[in-house]
Amino acid sequence: MSATAPEIHRGLAGVVVDTTEISTVIQETNSLTYRGYPVQELAARRSFEEVAHLLWHGELPDEAELRDFQARERALRPLDRTTAELLTGLPRTCHPMDVLRTAVSFLGAEDPTEDDGSPAANRTKSLTLLAKLPTVVAADHRRRRGLDPISPDPDLGYAENFFHMCFGEVPDPDTVRCFEISLVLYAEHSFNASTFTARVVTSTLSDLYSAVTAAVGALKGPLHGGANEAVMHMLEEIGDPDRAQEWLDGALAAKRKIMGFGHRVYKHGDSRVPIMQTALDRLVARAADPEATRLATLHTALRHAMLQRKGIHPNLDYPAGLAYHLMGFDTSTFTPIFVMSRITGWTAHITEQLAHNTLIRPLASYDGPHQRPVPTALRP
Ligand code: ACO
Repeated sequence: MSATAPEIHRGLAGVVVDTTEISTVIQETNSLTYRGYPVQELAARRSFEEVAHLLWHGELPDEAELRDFQARERALRPLDRTTAELLTGLPRTCHPMDVLRTAVSFLGAEDPTEDDGSPAANRTKSLTLLAKLPTVVAADHRRRRGLDPISPDPDLGYAENFFHMCFGEVPDPDTVRCFEISLVLYAEHSFNASTFTARVVTSTLSDLYSAVTAAVGALKGPLHGGANEAVMHMLEEIGDPDRAQEWLDGALAAKRKIMGFGHRVYKHGDSRVPIMQTALDRLVARAADPEATRLATLHTALRHAMLQRKGIHPNLDYPAGLAYHLMGFDTSTFTPIFVMSRITGWTAHITEQLAHNTLIRPLASYDGPHQRPVPTALRP
């Protein structure tokens, strides 16, 4: 290798590729802000719809703006017949994230909005996806249980309506609040893998639906959004809280990644975890049943064991995964729920990318064979 060999940043770790006004992780205080507001305060005091408005427009809505935002979101919730039929035609063996990825792509093909990439057109498309994705996720959740879909209820807020469409009822306010907190915490996280994917696609001047379709694909992987489902599978595999330590030793010896732990950016704990953990604790206390208590005990035991063995903290997927299970959602629906929230961050970044676009096209250091002549063609 020559003395001037370029420095390689595998996984773009530590590389700053652009500026953003949308959110930031403040390393010194281990905190996350959306448009300058600490996410913990937003989760404690504001609805998911208000946070969506903040991410898209830069400011929290006033009363009139919120009413208008809610009215438009609620009106866009129903799916037309063609989309609903397409989704029911997909095999039940595919993962719900495949259904969602297909739905985003299909909604893009159907959208009559002029595709001029303007901020106004993209705002309409973003709202369309925010409104319709829960309807898709809930219909698929019911289909897998052999149940008919339930139409959205325009009198219900975003979180409540999702429960209504999944289960035909809205649970107690604590459970809805816990769900809403998870949506606020999942909404945005700077240049994470799926958001960066959306920005890469957008940088070619492709359309918003193409960028979101690609982002759904990136989020599906277990090293990213798929980890919230993997957490639940892991807890089921361990089973007994008394086995947590022994299971962890075996998994680490086998060089397995422990799902819901670690983070590329946070090295001393994910700033979103404490508030989600508190909401989860409330959910467990409210459930007051032996199964919820067993899972919560196992969850805590594994967290302590992991901290002790590796000094690695849980990320948001760790408490969120168990919380969604206790709310009654099927495990394969956890990552689609993440999409219902992160759609806000993705689309805010798509708008920002377009406002100062430069094609994203990094370089690679070539490591293959030296240039060589093509051998003479084989005779047939
Ligand atoms: N289990 C076991 N070991 C881990 C874990 C883990 N979950 N996370 C990090 N490590 C280890 C690495 O193996 C590495 O050890 P080594 O130095 O002996 O090789 C060391 O900790 C440092 O890890 P990094 O390389 O700095 O981690 P990286 O930034 O590459 O990866 C990632 C971050 C992918 C999130 C990783 O922690 C992981 O795979 N976690 C499990 C999957 C997960 O929970 N993903 C969700 C991310 S958050 C989100 O999407 C909301």
